[in-house]
Amino acid sequence: MVLFGPPGAGKGTQAQLLRDRLNLAHVSSGDLFRQNLNNNTPLGLKAAEYMKQGHLVPDEVTIDIVLDKVLSLNSEEGFILDGFPRNRYQAEVLEKALAQRSRGIDKVVHIDVCQEELIRRLAGRFNCRDCQAPHSIDKVAFSQEDLKCGQCGGELYQREDDRPEAVQRRIEVYQRETLPVLDYYREKDLLLDVSGLDTVEKVNKDVLAGLGVI
Ligand code: AP5
Ligand code: MG
Repeated sequence: MVLFGPPGAGKGTQAQLLRDRLNLAHVSSGDLFRQNLNNNTPLGLKAAEYMKQGHLVPDEVTIDIVLDKVLSLNSEEGFILDGFPRNRYQAEVLEKALAQRSRGIDKVVHIDVCQEELIRRLAGRFNCRDCQAPHSIDKVAFSQEDLKCGQCGGELYQREDDRPEAVQRRIEVYQRETLPVLDYYREKDLLLDVSGLDTVEKVNKDVLAGLGVI
């Protein structure tokens, strides 16, 4: 399945819940880039130049790293793509690569959230340096204990691309380059639209209900 939505919609949050509930692999293009950056690889350093400005990383860098990961999964293993595809070309290349393995995308879950709420969420979002899990932190009243990951105990930090200028650019890029991918999947009748404005638990329930799991 593909988890689709604007920056801050809750893709990472829902991907973790779906991964655990449905026993799927979670493949996040952004997390792959950030892991590379943490390890100071040439790919991570190159991707970071684009990411910190809020631009898309070029296709020739992105497609290989994501497809390598997806195609390395066992053919029995289901997966959640989070943050990929982000333009029509990526969607087409993905479809062809999966078809060559007799695999495909079963569902594209589109989590929609208004711009005002995206900006609010990203301003208070901290990620784990180790497992990348997103957390919401009240920046006015937080203790040192709050800056530890609730899942693995790792250190929490704020992503460089969560600065207001970068967030604004990411939202613009999403609207211009990524939103058209929805039509691609709508034509293929794969789209499940879910409001991301409810609580994390309610959004998760709506996704599971839409998938016919509950
Ligand atoms: P990426 O890492 O994919 O970032 P993004 O798409 O901008 O999305 P985010 O990770 O910011 O948000 P999210 O939807 O995962 O929300 P989250 O669950 O954290 O990409 C980063 C960059 O990498 C791109 O800008 C680009 O440069 C590059 N890149 C990646 N993929 C690429 C590709 N395919 N092609 C080219 N370049 C690519 O939630 C956000 C916050 O809200 C958290 O604090 C969370 O706790 C909170 N929250 C979640 N759900 C709720 C809820 N229901 N109610 C209240 N709060 C909530
Ligand atoms: Mg994310």
